[in-house]
Amino acid sequence: MKSLVSLSAHSALPPRSGQLAAAGTLAGIALPHVHAAGSDQVNVALIGCGGRGGGAASNAMNQSGPPRLVAMADVFEHRLKTSYDTLKRKHKDQVDVTDDRKFIGFDAYKGAMDCLKKGDVAIFTTPLAFRWVHFKYAIEKGLNVFMEKPLTADGPTSRRMLALAAEASKKNLKVGVGLKSRHSRALQELHKRIQDGEIGDITMLRGYRMQGPIGSAFSTKWPGQPGELMWQISRFHSFLWASGGGFSDFCIHHVDHLCWMKNAWPVKAQAVGARTYRTSPDGAPYVDQNFDSYAVEYTFADGAKMYMNGRNMLGAEPVYCSFAHGTKGMAIVSKQGDCGRPSSTYRSQNPANESLLWKSKEAKDGPDDPFLNEWAALMDAIRNDKPFNEAASGVYASAVTSMGRYAAHTGQEVTFDEFLNHEHEYAPGADKFTFDSPAPVQADPDGKYPAPQPGIKTKREY
Ligand SMILES: NC(=O)c1ccc[n+]([C@@H]2O[C@H](COP(=O)([O-])OP(=O)(O)OC[C@H]3O[C@@H](n4cnc5c(N)ncnc54)[C@H](O)[C@@H]3O)[C@@H](O)[C@H]2O)c1
Repeated sequence: MKSLVSLSAHSALPPRSGQLAAAGTLAGIALPHVHAAGSDQVNVALIGCGGRGGGAASNAMNQSGPPRLVAMADVFEHRLKTSYDTLKRKHKDQVDVTDDRKFIGFDAYKGAMDCLKKGDVAIFTTPLAFRWVHFKYAIEKGLNVFMEKPLTADGPTSRRMLALAAEASKKNLKVGVGLKSRHSRALQELHKRIQDGEIGDITMLRGYRMQGPIGSAFSTKWPGQPGELMWQISRFHSFLWASGGGFSDFCIHHVDHLCWMKNAWPVKAQAVGARTYRTSPDGAPYVDQNFDSYAVEYTFADGAKMYMNGRNMLGAEPVYCSFAHGTKGMAIVSKQGDCGRPSSTYRSQNPANESLLWKSKEAKDGPDDPFLNEWAALMDAIRNDKPFNEAASGVYASAVTSMGRYAAHTGQEVTFDEFLNHEHEYAPGADKFTFDSPAPVQADPDGKYPAPQPGIKTKREY
């Protein structure tokens, strides 16, 4: 693999929250003033009207101002309608989406963003395959963005998104990414404590997202309708091109916040992974591209390790939490879930009460909803013209997670440089898809999609 982008250029944490924008200022680039403090009405457009899209739009409308939802886009009319009805019930006065501002199709994103003015916010909550397409258009139009994780699944789109992230900063656009752990008050305080040396130098990190089958990770054969592309989109966790698969979609929060605690991204990964069960409980063959178990060992430049275990298996023990270990003690990072309170630190390697150093306050002591906090940070940056761009960091978190999945799927150790500079693009031409386009992966005569074969397919995931 050719080294087009070297990790050495990015080996520390990439600039977060607008340092790139600050660099733009220093370079003498004129930065447009976006919104006078507290004055202008901010409008938002929702692109991808599913579960998280409805949540993100609602989080936006719960901010002070308050922002209004003025346009919606989806590839499925029924998804847009359900989302509109729910949001209208909840936020009657702030949802102002007339029928001519509801757009259906693969170019619907353009219609929705065309309804916004400079300084408004476009929300991207489709599966990740379309992030770069939508982000590129938002930057052209000078729009701020909130986009959900993950941002990329492969090397070529990761490089493209890093370039777009830099472009957004040059234009002083504000960009939020749904890696919500970074906006949990408990994790923010833990991060500070770890940086201040409370548990010493970080030598090991551990994340566990082990649960039953969730989302659309496991699929039985395409039933013949809707069209194959549309069916794959509606079952996006099953397909690496659409989502990065279950490992990327489900484990990225832990990978991201553990790297944040360490203040570094890993330089390489090796992994084991397998699919134990290949039929549904009623015996129908599964045809998707996922394994049901992943155990990834990441290595940082200083030799420290990060272990990320992912499992989707009925009946196996559920574990959903994360830990950091240092030379002077340990921390519970997420007690339960993606970033669930309380976080805590200990002077030993066991989380025993007698060695407790600090425990974050319980939720009753004040609201700590990272979904709301991340919007508060974005809106504050917009209204007060503060530098804020989480896109590059979001790409790194996405690529690091994908590097672990890639290591499991190929059975090879892979460096970050190799992953980032790999030439296999999983959804080429995603900007030109139409309802009739062929799906990016095609089934064999048995209806099965190309699955990873570690040790046999070693240069590509499938
Ligand atoms: N931050 C979090 O904790 C969190 C939680 C859930 C989901 N997510 C992320 O949000 C994204 C969406 O997940 P979801 O659970 O809402 O899925 P979903 O299937 O409920 O919603 C996705 C929507 O996007 C639409 N869509 C697909 N392709 C489109 C395109 N090209 N243009 C316009 N619309 C398109 C779909 O029809 C669907 O309505 C995923 O990336 C997921 O990882 C993040």
